[in-house]
Amino acid sequence: MSSDWHDPETARRWDRTATEHNPVRAEQLEILAAVLGKLWTPGDWLLDLGYGSGQVEELLFERIPAACAVGVDSSEAMMALARDRLAAHGSRFAAVRHDLAALGGLRLPPRPYRFAIAVQSLHHLEPAEMREAYGWLARQLQPGGLFLLLDRVRVENRAVWPAMRAVWERLDVVHGSGVAAHEGADLAAHEAAARERGDRPVLLDEHLAWLRSAGFDPACLHLHGNRALVAGVVSGTA
Ligand SMILES: C[S@@+](CC[C@H](N)C(=O)[O-])C[C@H]1O[C@@H](n2cnc3c(N)ncnc32)[C@H](O)[C@@H]1O
Repeated sequence: MSSDWHDPETARRWDRTATEHNPVRAEQLEILAAVLGKLWTPGDWLLDLGYGSGQVEELLFERIPAACAVGVDSSEAMMALARDRLAAHGSRFAAVRHDLAALGGLRLPPRPYRFAIAVQSLHHLEPAEMREAYGWLARQLQPGGLFLLLDRVRVENRAVWPAMRAVWERLDVVHGSGVAAHEGADLAAHEAAARERGDRPVLLDEHLAWLRSAGFDPACLHLHGNRALVAGVVSGTA
């Protein structure tokens, strides 16, 4: 069944089990925080598309003393968890309730947005909505601003399936996780299960091409199986 982010129990379960089917998340978040920590200067703000229960902000606020963020999400259930989690951080965080599929109508709180992130959120959009989100995002960030996408990407084809599955099976051995079973027995089952959950991952190549045409200089910073951390720097040449 498609993830119902508006259901409080779904929200609480996801918050409890975020790494269960994604043991790579901790390492990729650690890299994301390290990159932002290196580049952050006081006064910079970050925009988080699909901030959910605030786990990423909690990490960033602990790691980066100057970090301040505006988060956008449409799920009141997830936002309520974030309110509790981030209560101690006061004015460092501002929340906006809005649909990421309709960013054209969103007026953000005016801040000097030097950074943006989207962690495991954009794969819920249709490909056309994702492309629009990239164009909108390039217009919100300062020149030279940095966008970090951390998300699942689509498995290319049947030819690479056995190798991809071997990567997931290895993760399960190392982490005691349930990735291989969660991802499906073959590519058809994998894609059907993703559709069922409301996941619409696109190829890494598509992310890079769409970011480029939206006005970013993109690069893949980290890829483990079907989990990617992609950077895009606003190039100002689109
Ligand atoms: C898997 S959670 C990730 C939360 C957070 N980024 C993290 O990694 O801890 C996905 C989040 O995206 C949000 N989301 C999904 N589709 C959305 C949409 N169309 N508009 C706004 N938020 C959306 C959900 O409400 C949920 O909070």
